[in-house]
Amino acid sequence: MNNVSKIEAQKAVLTLPNGQTHELPVLQGSTGPDVLDIRKLYAETGYFTYDPGYTSTASCESGLTFIDGEQGVLSHRGYAIEELAEKSTYLEVCYLLLYGELPTQAQFDEFDGHITNHSLVHEQLLYFYRGFRRDAHPMSIMVGVVGALSAFYHDSLDIDDPVQRRLAAYRLIAKLPTLAAMAYKYSLGHPFVYPKNEMSYAENFLNMTFSLPTEPYEVNPVLARAMDRILILHADHEQNASTSTVRLAGSSRANPFACVASGIASLWGPAHGGANEAVLTMLNQIGTADRIPEFIARAKDKDDPFRLMGFGHRVYKNYDPRAQVMRETCHEVLEELGITQEPLLDLAMQLERIALEDPYFVDRKLFPNVDFYSGIILKAMGFPTSMFTVLFAMSRTAGWIAQWKEMIQEPTQKIGRPRQLYIGPTERSYVPMDKR
Ligand code: SDX
Repeated sequence: MNNVSKIEAQKAVLTLPNGQTHELPVLQGSTGPDVLDIRKLYAETGYFTYDPGYTSTASCESGLTFIDGEQGVLSHRGYAIEELAEKSTYLEVCYLLLYGELPTQAQFDEFDGHITNHSLVHEQLLYFYRGFRRDAHPMSIMVGVVGALSAFYHDSLDIDDPVQRRLAAYRLIAKLPTLAAMAYKYSLGHPFVYPKNEMSYAENFLNMTFSLPTEPYEVNPVLARAMDRILILHADHEQNASTSTVRLAGSSRANPFACVASGIASLWGPAHGGANEAVLTMLNQIGTADRIPEFIARAKDKDDPFRLMGFGHRVYKNYDPRAQVMRETCHEVLEELGITQEPLLDLAMQLERIALEDPYFVDRKLFPNVDFYSGIILKAMGFPTSMFTVLFAMSRTAGWIAQWKEMIQEPTQKIGRPRQLYIGPTERSYVPMDKR
């Protein structure tokens, strides 16, 4: 499965309260922290481990994405995100995530052809949209219609058939932009725009989103390139909440469309992919630079649920490398659009500067993450804030399905079933209602 299989390095010895010792094998990957293999711990000692937020837990072995939070490093199959964002394309990164190597021209052309030829959705899927209110959040539509794909594509549901697994992966990568653009058009009451095979992936998405049948529409190549780069930056990110959701759903052998729908649901949360929408809401709430200290104080106040959206990360304790590329892209897009004054960008940059000088954020190593600048770019490109997380889901579908494929292909794959530390009432007898 991976170029480097895990190797057993040394052993750790655990001494239990009763004096019993237990050896834990230490496993090494190709890079990053070693792991203590606790798979036999409960069977041999009767102890569970306890890690509710999975802050110290490796849930799987994977060869897709490596993150070094201290160094601010992110790579896919060994290629640094900064290089991929500059030199690659989203579809090429999809191929890399799925197959482990950058494609030759012939391999890419074949892959691109498959994606292009699966970009249409079954015509009856259009009726699903009509069941939603026009003001439905587009993420609620995406959770519904992506799950509904399994009702239409019965020839790609057999997860034990590699041909069907590949077909499901291609259909998901190809159809997400079409479904996402349809969700936007539906919110406006505009007619759906069909994909055009002669367009690139990002051009097609922008055309399906912003063109109208009543007049010609030219996709701005600079915006198409910026869109493609944003898709690259969001494609995969190790075992984050939504990817772990997809893996757990897939471990029960649910079909890939249902698994990706579960990932979309998890990504929607403002602590995760919903943060890009929450950043714009927060910047509009702050309004002017003179109110930044008030919101910084709220972010630091333990009694106030307000957090600085777009700041902080479970893994990055340095700058999120994607945030830096995003900030450069932001300036490119605003310049291309001739937007010389973007108050929200000015406010964001002031907020970033003030926060990064504040000991609270510095001590906790809270830096801007991928979501801090993305919303400003997407707003400038014409997307409403409600579509920001939809774009994140569109991009992350490649990562989700590549991680799902990696898991399903794992010979030792089994259903994920965590245990718990039970703190509820111990055994007691039923009391009839008239005796309570
Ligand atoms: C994504 O995992 C991934 O890889 C996700 C992602 C991906 O590509 O899949 O990178 C995408 O989800 C990016 C993150 C987007 N979310 C946000 O921007 C929302 C705001 N950020 C926070 O909610 C928070 O930083 C998290 C959820 C991102 C991380 O939370 P953790 O790792 O559980 O950290 P924590 O809550 O334990 O915080 C540690 C300390 C706490 O203070 P103390 O209790 O130590 O005093 O830092 C504080 C927190 O209160 N803190 C913040 C803060 N984030 C953390 N305080 C103010 N504002 C913040 N944003």
